[in-house]
Amino acid sequence: MEPQSPFDRHLRRALENHLDVETGATPPNLAEAMAYSLLLPGKRIRPRLTLACAQMVGLVEAASIPAAVAVETLHCFTLIHDDLPCMDNSDTRRGKPANHKVHGEGLALLAGDALIALAYKALFEAAPHVTATGFHAALNRFTDTLGASGVTGGQAMEMLLKPDSGPDAVRKMHAAKTGALFKAALLLPKDLSEVAAEGDGGQSIITFADELGSAFQVADDLADLAEEKGDRASFNVFNHGDKGFLLNEATTGLEIATRQLHEIWGESAAGLVAISNEVKARLR
Ligand code: IPE
Ligand code: IPE
Ligand code: MG
Repeated sequence: MEPQSPFDRHLRRALENHLDVETGATPPNLAEAMAYSLLLPGKRIRPRLTLACAQMVGLVEAASIPAAVAVETLHCFTLIHDDLPCMDNSDTRRGKPANHKVHGEGLALLAGDALIALAYKALFEAAPHVTATGFHAALNRFTDTLGASGVTGGQAMEMLLKPDSGPDAVRKMHAAKTGALFKAALLLPKDLSEVAAEGDGGQSIITFADELGSAFQVADDLADLAEEKGDRASFNVFNHGDKGFLLNEATTGLEIATRQLHEIWGESAAGLVAISNEVKARLR
């Protein structure tokens, strides 16, 4: 499969650099299953957020590209496992057969596992270009994003939801399942460049990350509603609250956070403002 964009070439390079098919250290069936999902063209919104935020805070490319690759690779792992029959049992992903439909359930499970390791290998490539403190903070955040209070916890939280769970419970689940990775995408450049969390600059990134992650999930639920898509396990926020209210809340929150980001960071925030506008346009 040919790479689709300059960023996809970085994804492909990560596979080439960290898999070792030639000597037989990486079995070819596993390499193929990993490449299948990683190189399927998705929206790439998370790595675009990482690169735009890196540009805003002045993080060098040698560190921002590894972080962006790490974020997209971790996202791909979540998608493969999420589609498995024991989870959402989805047959398609990114317009193509889901990983397990092509490679079988066992190999899809292993490809997801190996993508987690690949994501860490990618992130480690940022280390020589940043301070030890910055890298430690980023590594800690990345691990939390993957773990029991991040995407893994979010998927488990979804299993606890009931049809009469209120919008707050659904929001909490979305904040972990989807929001954590959006937050990491935006906050890894902040960590790596050591922008202080307590300052206005750091705080504006944190607020923007929260609002963007939640607006993205609302937009995704809205699209699912239009397609009448009903995953076995996926809870749609619109089944738990008023549509107009939820859309207005997401739009207003995103607008305020984006304005604040722009006020503090000026024109260097242009890349993030553009992505924010893309997400906002989907909220109707
Ligand atoms: C899908 O994410 C999973 C959700 C959090 C809703 P995306 O909609 O970003 O998926 P791709 O990467 O474009 O395939
Ligand atoms: C996708 O979640 C996986 C994660 C966010 C961890 P969903 O089940 O809500 O999204 P789709 O509909 O499969 O893309
Ligand atoms: Mg799903």
